[in-house]
Amino acid sequence: TRLVVLVSGSGTNLQALLDAIDADPSYGARIVAVGADRDGIVGLERAERAGLPTFVVKVRDHADRAAWDVALTEATAAYEPDLVVSAGFMKIVGKHFLAAFGGRFINTHPALLPSFPGAHGVRDALAYGAKVTGCTVHFVDDGVDTGPVIAQGVVEVAVDDTEEALHERIKDVERRLLVDVVGRLSRDGYRIEGRKVRIPA
Ligand code: GRF
Repeated sequence: TRLVVLVSGSGTNLQALLDAIDADPSYGARIVAVGADRDGIVGLERAERAGLPTFVVKVRDHADRAAWDVALTEATAAYEPDLVVSAGFMKIVGKHFLAAFGGRFINTHPALLPSFPGAHGVRDALAYGAKVTGCTVHFVDDGVDTGPVIAQGVVEVAVDDTEEALHERIKDVERRLLVDVVGRLSRDGYRIEGRKVRIPA
């Protein structure tokens, strides 16, 4: 399975995938390129260190969001991925991208969807006073964090938690969940039936 991973930040989820692929010859997937919506991020450094091709497609280099979406789609498609992984990619893709990669584009989100979608899942769960939160790996559809759920991990919220501390504990679970999901999807295949994702055992 050929993976393109999209990042916007520190890329620790990307690193977890790289490490899993390195450690296990039968993992079932390999990363063929890493894309980003900005440069100067640690996520891209990790990709370069691993010897992977990278591409950057910035919104501000395009006339509008639709043109950016087309450019991102083309840059990604050039690597002929079977699966695209949004791993801390902080942009909502548009209809071109979904037309090309719908049903094979997954995202990891730091909350238990459908609670706390959007860019501040950790902060919002904390502000709400939730006692448990976690992470969700899901297929991307045309909503914001609304696509079919593949797997979730639970993390307890501590009384005096800070957003940073809670996010670190979530990311610990999230990295393992993402590695597990990508490996299973890659090795075992899957079907999406409505909101149900079936991965043969
Ligand atoms: C993850 O928690 C992801 O869900 C999110 O931002 C974080 C990305 O971390 N929205 P990293 O760049 O993989 O380290």
